[in-house]
Amino acid sequence: MTLLQTLEARLSAALEKAIGEPTAPNLSPAADLRFGDYQSNTAMVMAKRLKTNPRALAQQILDALDVTDIATTSIAGPGFINFTILPEAYAAHAESLLKDPLLGAPQPGEGKTIVVDFSAPNVAKPMHVGHIRSTIIGDSLCRIARFLGYSVIADNHIGDWGTQFGMILHGWKTLLNHDALAADPIKELVRVYRQVNASTKEDPTVLDTCKAELVALQAGDPENLAIWQQCIDVSKLGLQKIYDRLDVKFDHWLGESFYNDMLPGLVDEFLENGLARESNGAVCVFTDDSKAPGDDPFKVHKEDGWTDNPAIIRKADGGFLYATTDLATISYRIDEWNADQIWYVVGVPQQLHFRQIFEAAERWGKHGDFRHIAFGSILGEDRKLMKTRSGDNVGLTDVLEEAVERAAKAIAEKNPDLTGDEAAEVAEIVGIGAVKFAELSQHRLTDYVFAWDRMLALQGDTAPYLQYSSVRIRSIFRKLDAAFDPTSAKISLEKPEEIHLARLLARFGEILPLVLEDHRPNLLANYLLELARAFHSYFEACPVLKSEEPLRSSRLALCALTSSVLEKGLGLLGIRCPERM
Ligand code: ARG
Repeated sequence: MTLLQTLEARLSAALEKAIGEPTAPNLSPAADLRFGDYQSNTAMVMAKRLKTNPRALAQQILDALDVTDIATTSIAGPGFINFTILPEAYAAHAESLLKDPLLGAPQPGEGKTIVVDFSAPNVAKPMHVGHIRSTIIGDSLCRIARFLGYSVIADNHIGDWGTQFGMILHGWKTLLNHDALAADPIKELVRVYRQVNASTKEDPTVLDTCKAELVALQAGDPENLAIWQQCIDVSKLGLQKIYDRLDVKFDHWLGESFYNDMLPGLVDEFLENGLARESNGAVCVFTDDSKAPGDDPFKVHKEDGWTDNPAIIRKADGGFLYATTDLATISYRIDEWNADQIWYVVGVPQQLHFRQIFEAAERWGKHGDFRHIAFGSILGEDRKLMKTRSGDNVGLTDVLEEAVERAAKAIAEKNPDLTGDEAAEVAEIVGIGAVKFAELSQHRLTDYVFAWDRMLALQGDTAPYLQYSSVRIRSIFRKLDAAFDPTSAKISLEKPEEIHLARLLARFGEILPLVLEDHRPNLLANYLLELARAFHSYFEACPVLKSEEPLRSSRLALCALTSSVLEKGLGLLGIRCPERM
């Protein structure tokens, strides 16, 4: 149990005694440590309701409260109840964390299934830095949810049935270089796609040819289907290489094409049940007028007021759409996987799409907790959307390559003793870690600037800083002449720096559920920075190896716990720590 949970339980019991009914404890970490560690405004909230004096009520609650073994209490201002955790309680808690493989993390997810839909690039198009956001955020959310006991299904819903295949098929038949395809399939497919795309602009008949290829594919033409399948296979191999490098794993790769067979029946069902109707030959889901127009995803505001903004699920020519596939996908995930929640880690521009399909799914009777976890853009250092010199989207592989190269240079300068395979391995861990942390330490909705020097700095809010902190702690243990078992150490806390470090270590299990509340790994990233800074202050103020027993063991145990929390926390962000750097 976290300290916060212990206090909550005790405060709830006291509230029930003092007020005579179950009452929310409203406890949160205090914004200012001078007032204590945790604060509750429940006396103020309840006094308003009961029309009594809040400070007097706070006193009544304190009279019924029993926390003297873990905290001192006080009443502040208009009726806040403040709790200051005793150093002994932090010490005892740290001792228990050292024995706990979960490091204090609660298990709210037991018995619940979450499908996380992330990465989901489009086949035969390069993964660009926009997909990096989805991949990195989604992977971290999967890791955190699993750690909190959820059963998580990571599903890569790749775009393997888009209109791009018209151009790819035409290009495959007329322009493909088979040697180039064997060497780097994604690159060759993209080259072909781009060249065909360019020639459609010069010669409109090319576009007709492409459309005909697409129609043939959709009608099941064997030659086109075989080419399509080959495109998918080689693209998946290329993608897998990137995921391996990023250490990202999926449980499934059910792309859009997986749902093709379900689409005709789905549209019929929508029509039969009155969930959709025909409009100009197309089949559409319209508003049911149950919501105010401003909240209704099937309404849009134009000059002459609110008008219909339906979701099309079958085009007049009989073709199905992205929305149709996504509805089939929801149904599959709920019926086959018993998903309680589905998280979509997809950029802001698709917001309307998700609002529409979430509502259509509900009306269809597919109930679940659906979340669109949106994110902003990545900007270049000129604050414009990140592009290459030729104006193309920057490819993800190039970004990773450059990150690792730059990390290698920085490490060679810092520690020339590292050489050969070890140096290469450390550069990989540091470079990829830096890219991930730059992403995860931002609020996901902000557009962030991709600045190499800033993300690789050893001093700063960076992964290398955290990795370096962890390496430093490990080096303390390398200096020991005898084995040290932190789980049997007795911890005692005296100096403010060590109390503060213990306070932050106790917060780890409290931060993680907050991350999932609003899907914000940056809360964890920033917590880890705070923890590392607290460790460095501690290490300066409190001699470890040079102090006498039993203080030495106590301080070593605190180092060991910091190292575990730091590495576990980074691991939950998908970031590894090197042995040396
Ligand atoms: N392939 C899409 C894209 O790159 C993202 C798919 C997201 N997932 C979904 N179920 N719609 O824009």
